[in-house]
Amino acid sequence: MFPLSWKAMAMPALVLLQLFFLIKVESSLSLFDKITQLPGQCFVGFQQFSGYVTVDDKKQRALFYYFVEAEFDPVSKPLVLWLNGGPGCSSLGVGAFSENGPFRPKGQFLIRNEYSWNKEANMLYLETPIGVGFSYSSDSSSVTVNDEITARDNLVFLQRWFLKFPEYRKRDLFITGESYAGHYIPQLAKLMIQFNKKEKLFNLKGIALGNPVLEFATDFNSRAEFFWSHGLISDSTYKMFTSACNYSRYVSEYYRDSVSTVCSRVMSQVGRETSRFVDKYDVTLDVCISSVFSQSKIISPQEVSETIDVCVEDETVNYLNRQDVQKALHAQLVGVRRWDVCSNILDYELLDVEIPTISIVGSLVKAGISVLVYSGDQDSVIPLIGSRKLVHELAKELGLNTTVPYRVWFEGQQVGGWTQVYGNILSFATIRGASHEAPFSQPERSLVLFKSFLQGRPLPEVF
Ligand SMILES: *[C@@H]1O[C@H](CO)[C@@H](O)[C@H](O)[C@H]1NC(C)=O
Ligand SMILES: *[C@@H]1O[C@H](CO)[C@@H](O)[C@H](O)[C@H]1NC(C)=O
Repeated sequence: MFPLSWKAMAMPALVLLQLFFLIKVESSLSLFDKITQLPGQCFVGFQQFSGYVTVDDKKQRALFYYFVEAEFDPVSKPLVLWLNGGPGCSSLGVGAFSENGPFRPKGQFLIRNEYSWNKEANMLYLETPIGVGFSYSSDSSSVTVNDEITARDNLVFLQRWFLKFPEYRKRDLFITGESYAGHYIPQLAKLMIQFNKKEKLFNLKGIALGNPVLEFATDFNSRAEFFWSHGLISDSTYKMFTSACNYSRYVSEYYRDSVSTVCSRVMSQVGRETSRFVDKYDVTLDVCISSVFSQSKIISPQEVSETIDVCVEDETVNYLNRQDVQKALHAQLVGVRRWDVCSNILDYELLDVEIPTISIVGSLVKAGISVLVYSGDQDSVIPLIGSRKLVHELAKELGLNTTVPYRVWFEGQQVGGWTQVYGNILSFATIRGASHEAPFSQPERSLVLFKSFLQGRPLPEVF
């Protein structure tokens, strides 16, 4: 009963089979990285992936990522890369599990974060550079890195990550992050724009930088005014900290192993007054007693009255060091005994902190990339004062006029912070009551900010 031309039938079938095979191979690359379930999580309707992307051809250097698809309709939502700073701190532990990811570890369990950024986007968390978290180099010498190597590795990572997830290649892309990511993000975005001139691969739409290091002296020296105006140092110490030895000078000397007597004297006075029992990343927050001074009987834990869990970092350390968790994440420990929030094996070129990246931000704006600089307003490490000034000066230099005058913005019925927009492309915003890790301490307000940023809309003007 076979029709006369068996061959004629077989040919297209063979082609079809090949095609099917090709598609299957391509999509199965991401299937290997699909997370079935994380230990302690409840059921969720979105997909999670994690695993490695090698960034050199000898396959000795690999970066670890955690990817969370958007909770609803991921196909219509942008792709957002999130990077934490340090340099050397983990985007998985800090970003995903303490700030804006879908879960936060609590004892044996993962509790849902109601204000997870995957409500608005497909979130990609990258542990970078090599040597951070689960990212590794099997040739240990290359744990010596700097800004340039980091940017290049991040670029290669994304190129190769798109091979695993080709459906995201054409998607609107945003890069977000905080702190030292004020270096990583503009430097990576610059490489993407250069790469796009050869082959249009990155559909980069915007970057958002939280409490970022953009210009060493301006950012670091605004610490003195912040300490002083928040009552952490006295009038006389403020005077010394701005005239005798300012903070940028101290850091500069410190990284060169040549701290002068005057700076050493000023810094110990500043340290004495500010006290180590105040969290410098949020001056209104109590320190997590266990992570600072686990044997301490000086301050009794009963005195901790904050409703938010200031010990979340320790929970994350415990969680990510569980073997069942590492297995579920497809993670390995290479060259280290345990997973750490911030790497102990990384040898980062610390003097790179002095490289200004605000000028790169300017070139991105000129290339049509929208930029948001935001500040948790309780952070004394990279205070809002410096960031606001840098953005204002950049706008002036680029000839961008104010399109939204300095005003409050709302989250619900309360003021979420202040904002100003220049030329409808460069924005500054504060998040009221937020720390250096803004989405950790003000998750609800941070999510409103994030949503406006992705939609390219000004922050809510009324409630
Ligand atoms: C900080 O100190 C350096 C070195 O003394 C000086 O050049 C610089 O102007 C100072 N910056 C500020 C903001 O005071
Ligand atoms: C900015 O404002 C000035 C003064 O109102 C005006 O002359 C200039 O054309 C404006 N620039 C842009 C880019 O709109």
